Amino acid sequence: MKRLVVYYSLSGNTREAAQKIANKLDADLLELETVKAMPKSFAAQIFVGGGQVVMNHIPKLKPMDKDVNNYDEIILGSPIWNSKGVPAINAFLQDENAAKKVTSLFFLSAGGDTKKGLEAITTKLPNLRNKASLLDRKNENSKDNDSKIEGFIAEITQNA
Ligand SMILES: Cc1cc2nc3c(=O)[nH]c(=O)nc-3n(C[C@H](O)[C@H](O)[C@H](O)COP(=O)(O)O)c2cc1C
Repeated sequence: MKRLVVYYSLSGNTREAAQKIANKLDADLLELETVKAMPKSFAAQIFVGGGQVVMNHIPKLKPMDKDVNNYDEIILGSPIWNSKGVPAINAFLQDENAAKKVTSLFFLSAGGDTKKGLEAITTKLPNLRNKASLLDRKNENSKDNDSKIEGFIAEITQNA
């Protein structure tokens, strides 16, 4: 089973989780980056990122250094922005072949409410089987992220 962990991360939380998951599954990693950079200040990020989610904006992605056709399974990681997944992930999922390969999804959020995000993204992921909701390192309950990741990995390997 050849696995690819695909993720977007603005402030490093999703990257950290993606690296742990890829390491445990012996999977490759692909970080999505938008051509147009996000602003540096958090207030401006909330304004611009929140607006992009509301407008269903699909950003241009930088060229990817991995070919999804070489993988059997994709594990996808996204921060929650305005209760939903991020625009860069929606851009990636425009490739239906890639969307079909996604079996597993993990979200990073400040508060842990992923209901709307799941509803919005699951319609695009016909083969989604495994889900995890992890918390930003600023949330005191993020100490449970490692055990949640263990459970997520167990599901992925059992449901392969
Ligand atoms: C534009 C923007 C919108 C956000 N909206 C939400 C939200 O609706 N709910 C929430 O729990 N966290 C929200 N967050 C917080 C992020 O989901 C959280 O900080 C996450 O850990 C960021 O992941 P990253 O470090 O990989 O970028 C938002 C962050 C940004 C930048």
